[in-house]
Amino acid sequence: MGFTRVDGVLHAEQCSLDDLAQKFSTPLYVYSKATLQQNYLDLDQAFDFIDHQICFAVKSNSNLAVLRVLAKLGSGFDIVTGGELARVLAAGGDPSKIVFSGLGKTEADITKALEVGIACFNVESYAELDRIEKVAARLGQQAPISLRVNPDVDAKTHPYISTGLKENKFGIPSDVVFETYQYAATLPHLDIIGIDCHIGSQLTETQPFEDALDRVIQMIEHLKGLGIQLKHIDIGGGLGVRYQDETPPSFSEYANSMRPALEKLGLKVYMEPGRSISALAGVLLTQVDLLKPTNHRNFAIVDAAMNDMIRPSLYEAWMDIQSVNHNTQVESKSWDIVGAICETGDFLGKQRELALTAGDYLAVMGAGAYGFVMSSNYNSRGRAAEIMVDGEQAHVIRERETIESLWENEHLLPEG
Ligand code: LLP
Repeated sequence: MGFTRVDGVLHAEQCSLDDLAQKFSTPLYVYSKATLQQNYLDLDQAFDFIDHQICFAVKSNSNLAVLRVLAKLGSGFDIVTGGELARVLAAGGDPSKIVFSGLGKTEADITKALEVGIACFNVESYAELDRIEKVAARLGQQAPISLRVNPDVDAKTHPYISTGLKENKFGIPSDVVFETYQYAATLPHLDIIGIDCHIGSQLTETQPFEDALDRVIQMIEHLKGLGIQLKHIDIGGGLGVRYQDETPPSFSEYANSMRPALEKLGLKVYMEPGRSISALAGVLLTQVDLLKPTNHRNFAIVDAAMNDMIRPSLYEAWMDIQSVNHNTQVESKSWDIVGAICETGDFLGKQRELALTAGDYLAVMGAGAYGFVMSSNYNSRGRAAEIMVDGEQAHVIRERETIESLWENEHLLPEG
């Protein structure tokens, strides 16, 4: 959609990525505003059949400009820290459309969230119920809560991004869901309004979503019998995208797979998508610095590294790597695209068939989610700049970090 080739050169909307790389230098994250908007609108439309609220998962891409674009379309936000809450507010997001997930909310985070009036806390433990009760009592408020339940469904995704199994740390285990709701009902400063579940990320089938929904609906029915009436169901995030040859459901297939059950239930639907909105709206541009062919492997050392994009190193994630310009000077061969960090795990892609010369630009596709947000300063590398393209315009939405800024908060010991 937003990333196409024009005369062989990869473009973001109407901007040549070759021009952007030269102008702003690399490594460089480039987002397409139109793609971001289209993804949001397509998902929103797919759920037209029911009262719903999309809460974009801020963890997938938290740049203020990205959040602002989505806020303007009516998006709410799924946050997991006080830091993400502050970002959403700074970007002009509507606090009444925020759901607060995560299993370790601090008292300070809860206080701030109650002060600004968020939609709901997704609670994951007894201890957290007590903590929210305490803060709400202090503020003289009733905190809107839902319980994040663990439906024990296999999301069939990478174990590090699977969250709905018994052995995962997330959610209230299904065997204690009812007693936890009943306990919550005894706390005077909590207002029980919903139920929530998120079973994992990068799901490429609808079945696990349907299975989880079935289990959650059974819980909702049982809760009614206990006198606990809910107003909403939060179906989490997790819809996958195509990085390689996956065939994830489209937004409408995803929505339609749950439609009969949701319509019958009749509650308002919240959802927390991250990747499905932001991943394909971004690329990471990098320049080939040095070529190092050996008898065993050919290495292309590029100026982006695992500190800029950790997904391949951390999850062995396969991300598509394309030449920005077709290189017609040399034959293609199999290259390992690696960073210059002193770790064997520092690679962006292995055994990729590419025609490469030092100086060429490469684009790591699908880098709009869990890309920049997971970057670090490992090896004292400043983090990349971020650009958002809007038609023919390219806007800097985050400056490249200067080296000096890396030790801004450091102090030497007193001398002597
Ligand atoms: N809601 C909750 C409670 C979550 O934990 C997550 C993601 C989401 C929503 C958004 O899920 P999405 O729609 O983006 O799949 N860094 C990993 C992904 C970690 C996902 C963590 N939780 C990666 O790069 O694949």
